[in-house]
Amino acid sequence: MPSLTITPVAGRIGAEITGVRLGGDLHPDVVAELRQALLTHKVIFLRGQDHLDEQGQVGFARLIGEPTAAHPTVPALHGNAHILDLDYSNGHKVDRWHTDVTFVDRPPLASVLRAVIVPEAGGDTLWANTVSAYEHLPVELRDLLDRLRAVHTNQYDYVRAATVDERAREHAEVFTSTLFETEHPVVRVHPETGERSILLGDFAKRLSGLSAHTSGSVIRLVQEHVTEVENTVRWRWSPGDVAIWDNRATQHRVVHDFGDRPRRLHRVTIAGDVPVGVDG
Ligand code: SIN
Repeated sequence: MPSLTITPVAGRIGAEITGVRLGGDLHPDVVAELRQALLTHKVIFLRGQDHLDEQGQVGFARLIGEPTAAHPTVPALHGNAHILDLDYSNGHKVDRWHTDVTFVDRPPLASVLRAVIVPEAGGDTLWANTVSAYEHLPVELRDLLDRLRAVHTNQYDYVRAATVDERAREHAEVFTSTLFETEHPVVRVHPETGERSILLGDFAKRLSGLSAHTSGSVIRLVQEHVTEVENTVRWRWSPGDVAIWDNRATQHRVVHDFGDRPRRLHRVTIAGDVPVGVDG
């Protein structure tokens, strides 16, 4: 069986993989190679997966783990309970750095995102490596973060998003129709690699036990560090591309520079576990 070709896309995160046709019937050795690539590179990209439909996407996701419901509050794509329809013409505007669904006790292990419609220009997605971000911090700051916990909520601040129109307001109402709030360690230990990574992002609203002012300042400082360009990769989509990321080791965001031009992607998230901090 031919093995995959894995080509890093940026210095610290991201690899493009060729030589595989995604689906629910992949050989276990190929799945194992993909999983290993995911652990090493944090986000992997596969172009030209045009054959994949909703069922095929979920079937493939099942080989990585157990697909979750599409989202805790946003209804699934009609006809498939596991697909979140990221149709930006519906007012979806989570366009700040985040890790998926950190406002629940068990955030997803991974996400599988498939491009359906992409604008002719713009609408790229960026990912940041939260493991290398931790590793590049001075030891004094790592020691501080190791001891902190953060409160995460889906009370997403749409006012800070790029623009707020009527559709975005309606979507925000759905997004926050049930409020979730949970606490996670700021530094989590990856259950498979043992690596330490920073678990913050835009759903992290405050640091437990610190004043709003201090926690805001610390979160901003750390987020600036996580998202500095050297720590990121940027993907220019074509329809049929698939990106798979380790949600335990990354943050991501769309570049919302495409105005009203159509952009639509389908996302499947895979069930994860309770993040564990450095003290267990
Ligand atoms: C997401 O935030 O999960 C989707 C990112 C994108 O639309 O590029």
